[in-house]
Amino acid sequence: MYQPREGRYQKARYNRAGRSGLMLPQVSLGLWHNFAARSDYDNCKKMLTYAFDHGITHFDLANNYGPPPGSAETVFGKILKDLLAPYRDELIISTKAGFDMWEGPYGDWGSKKYLVASLDQSLARMGLDYVDIFYHHRPDPETPIEETLDALKLLMRQGKALYVAISNYRKADTEKALQYARDIHLPILCNQLEYSLLSRPDFEDQQQLLTREGMGAVAYAPLAGGLLTDRYRNGIPQDSRIRTDGRFLKEADVTESLLKKLAKLDSIARERGQKLSQLSLAWVMAQAGITTALIGASRVEQIEEALEAAENRRFSAEELERIEQAMR
Ligand SMILES: NC(=O)c1ccc[n+]([C@@H]2O[C@H](COP(=O)([O-])OP(=O)(O)OC[C@H]3O[C@@H](n4cnc5c(N)ncnc54)[C@H](OP(=O)(O)O)[C@@H]3O)[C@@H](O)[C@H]2O)c1
Repeated sequence: MYQPREGRYQKARYNRAGRSGLMLPQVSLGLWHNFAARSDYDNCKKMLTYAFDHGITHFDLANNYGPPPGSAETVFGKILKDLLAPYRDELIISTKAGFDMWEGPYGDWGSKKYLVASLDQSLARMGLDYVDIFYHHRPDPETPIEETLDALKLLMRQGKALYVAISNYRKADTEKALQYARDIHLPILCNQLEYSLLSRPDFEDQQQLLTREGMGAVAYAPLAGGLLTDRYRNGIPQDSRIRTDGRFLKEADVTESLLKKLAKLDSIARERGQKLSQLSLAWVMAQAGITTALIGASRVEQIEEALEAAENRRFSAEELERIEQAMR
């Protein structure tokens, strides 16, 4: 039987998501990759229990994570049932709908029909009565935002989601959503946005808006899927994401220009006593307004390194300037 580590909350840090009552860990773990049907189940269990044993309380999923779509939720549901179910009240589990999930006109985007059906499916796959956070995964240019937000409110009222949130909404989309959310008294917990040294505008454009409106910011892919680590500095390893699941991350992303930037970042990292991955992650955590850095991992050691990075996330003005120069 799994027995979580005593003292798991002693070192961990938590940040409030905007002006809500919800605290999220400094580092959260996402199951987009490496929790698929074909993934090594023992490794999945090890990563989740290691994370929980070290104060990572938040696990992020989406209806379509896999492959095949839905399988990450199924794997997570099995691990919950086998190990983590007694600790459900210590966990923040999120899922999303908004991308292509099933055939026909009702399995994509932002209609009430899709969101309500999709959350029911997600709950069934994970064996849960409710999720803690339910996200609309991307803005839908065709469906009225009123309909999408009404659907989120309905799911909250039904108790299937404790909090609702948005993801990949650009500044104008967020403003529009907030306008209607105010009318219907719907608190939107946070916006989940890509944010790393290689991907900055979506968050930086709306950072002030999110803070002013009391919304949290979840920074996803802070290591740019592994590009901002040592992973690809000496070729493309066989066990890396590019080789094992190159749907989104490609060999062509490892450019000469990127490698030069990484070399400069690496020397700053060494002076700080960190690895390149840790500097990249610490830089994200150091930005004002970030509630949590949402990482991915293929092995326990990567989670360990991320937690270590959280301990040294202060930068001097000179270091920040050198990082800016390195990225130019
Ligand atoms: N809302 C959205 O639209 C959206 C989109 C994307 C992601 N997300 C969320 O964000 C989560 C994280 O995304 P991500 O996995 O792309 O994040 P990431 O943290 O940028 O990348 C994780 C990958 O980097 C590599 N890595 C991690 N630590 C490392 C280390 N110490 N040294 C070397 N390599 C290391 C691993 O790749 P290897 O497999 O090669 O070891 C790992 O799988 C997802 O699971 C999901 O929950 C949300």
